[in-house]
Amino acid sequence: MLDEEVIEMPVLVVYASKHGATQEIAERVAQTMAAAGQQAQARPVTAAGDLTGYDAFVVGSAVYMGHWQKEATEFVRRNRAVLAGHPVWLFSSGPLGTEPVDAQGRDLTVAAEPKELAEFTQAIHPRGHRVFFGVLDPGRLGRRERALRKLPAARAIMPEGDFRDWAQIEAWARGIARDPALGTGGADRIGADS
Ligand SMILES: Cc1cc2nc3c(=O)[nH]c(=O)nc-3n(C[C@H](O)[C@H](O)[C@H](O)COP(=O)(O)O)c2cc1C
Repeated sequence: MLDEEVIEMPVLVVYASKHGATQEIAERVAQTMAAAGQQAQARPVTAAGDLTGYDAFVVGSAVYMGHWQKEATEFVRRNRAVLAGHPVWLFSSGPLGTEPVDAQGRDLTVAAEPKELAEFTQAIHPRGHRVFFGVLDPGRLGRRERALRKLPAARAIMPEGDFRDWAQIEAWARGIARDPALGTGGADRIGADS
């Protein structure tokens, strides 16, 4: 049957999110890939389940104090062998504000790269890592986070707001859907079927 000839290459998008911003980015990545013809689903890293049957992975985490969330780092370490054997893309959700650079003139998307990135790059050779601007909603912060945010050094780099650039996030996801590492996936496959 024709259906059996269609090569399904599902992608698992896993994420660690403390206050929800990264979860929404991961869900948008999966939706955008699906709209581009690439089967994809988003799940928390803690509920990733069996990785067998996925042909590629996107792993994302919020960045706190320069680090990925522990469960995301543990996911990469625990599944290092599987991830190293498949195409993997990483993303981080971190910087806040509308300025692309910090007070020292450093590109915020570079300054916000998590400390684990060098280790991950060596361990699993991701095809890419992208830093996306994130969200700070004071109503969602815990007591310690609120106290930290009041410190003079933190105030300037932790403005309140939703700074996610959805067009940029969707463009990144479409790029993954079209990546040759996913075989004939994405829009090409839809075109071929129609
Ligand atoms: C206490 C605290 C520490 C943070 N530390 C960093 C950081 O080191 N680097 C960064 O880029 N963003 C930092 N952020 C911003 C968060 O990463 C950003 O708000 C992110 O989008 C939150 O994602 P989540 O809602 O999925 O948890 C920090 C935010 C808080 C409240």
